[in-house]
Amino acid sequence: MLSRRGFLSAAAAASVAGGLAACAKKSGTASSGSSGGTTKQITLGFAQTGAESGWRVANTTSVKDAATDAGINLKFVDSQSKPENQIAAVRNFIAQKVDVISFSPIVTTGWEAILREAKNAKIPVILTDRSVDVSDSSLYVTLVGSDFEAEGERAGHMMEKVLQGHTGPVNLAQLEGTTGSAPAIERTKGFKKIMDSHPEWKLVITQSGNFERAKGQEVMAAFLGAHPEINALFAQNDDMGIGAIQAIEAAGKKPGTDIKIVTIDGIKDGFTAMAAGKINGICECNPLLGPQLMDTVKKVLAGQTLDKWIKTQESDFTADQAAAALPNRKY
Ligand code: AHR
Repeated sequence: MLSRRGFLSAAAAASVAGGLAACAKKSGTASSGSSGGTTKQITLGFAQTGAESGWRVANTTSVKDAATDAGINLKFVDSQSKPENQIAAVRNFIAQKVDVISFSPIVTTGWEAILREAKNAKIPVILTDRSVDVSDSSLYVTLVGSDFEAEGERAGHMMEKVLQGHTGPVNLAQLEGTTGSAPAIERTKGFKKIMDSHPEWKLVITQSGNFERAKGQEVMAAFLGAHPEINALFAQNDDMGIGAIQAIEAAGKKPGTDIKIVTIDGIKDGFTAMAAGKINGICECNPLLGPQLMDTVKKVLAGQTLDKWIKTQESDFTADQAAAALPNRKY
């Protein structure tokens, strides 16, 4: 398995990008970066996961707006959270002979065959947001996205901060993202690293809430029924955290006080809940990947050397910063 940390290989990326660009040009496809002669408009096929969260909606808007701004013809497919739809969308893009394919993989596995089809068709693939688990990293050019394991670690450190001054046992619950997705796997791993350095923290229950608000509410209600002793929650995105807040209030408890809450993303609704004292800390995961993606598309088609992982810059926010930061949140 290739971990996100393990596959940084500029040389490999360069040879794939260069090879694919050469193939693209041979087949008559011009990129906006090529010099001389008329340039044909670039067509990008993008298979989105779905619309499971506020983060995802912001990400879709960013991709669509950035394509328009960059003069790129975007073929957009919403995979409705079904991996089989996403694979079918990629296959369709290959049949349509688009210039570049990009997608945010719903789950990490099951990509080898379709990525090989894209490679055989000489269509470069750029992953956005999430990684895949493949044995051959030449099957895609690069990944534009966040370091999810680092986000999990940051959430662990945020929990340390939020629990400062707390006495007595820490009974933690965790709402994980979509089972088998890179952010769920890697955030769980990162958070566990910090949790393991705190013998006084006890993870009493952990389960997927699928990155969805309604599911977060449903799962948290079940958590509280089985474990009324829960006094801290790590929700792997804002939406599940907001759903959990509803369940906590329905159970007659005070979110942010009786149960300390740390989430990831930083959408407006998350900041609003934090300003109201219901979320104690948020670690940002930036969804505005559109401009970076369009830039990468052009560079790939121009045969430029790229890192295998183009990382996103992010920040952390505590409740005392929420009100001030809220007006500046764009999504
Ligand atoms: O892959 C990024 C994650 O996917 C976001 O944290 C979550 O909100 C989204 O659905």
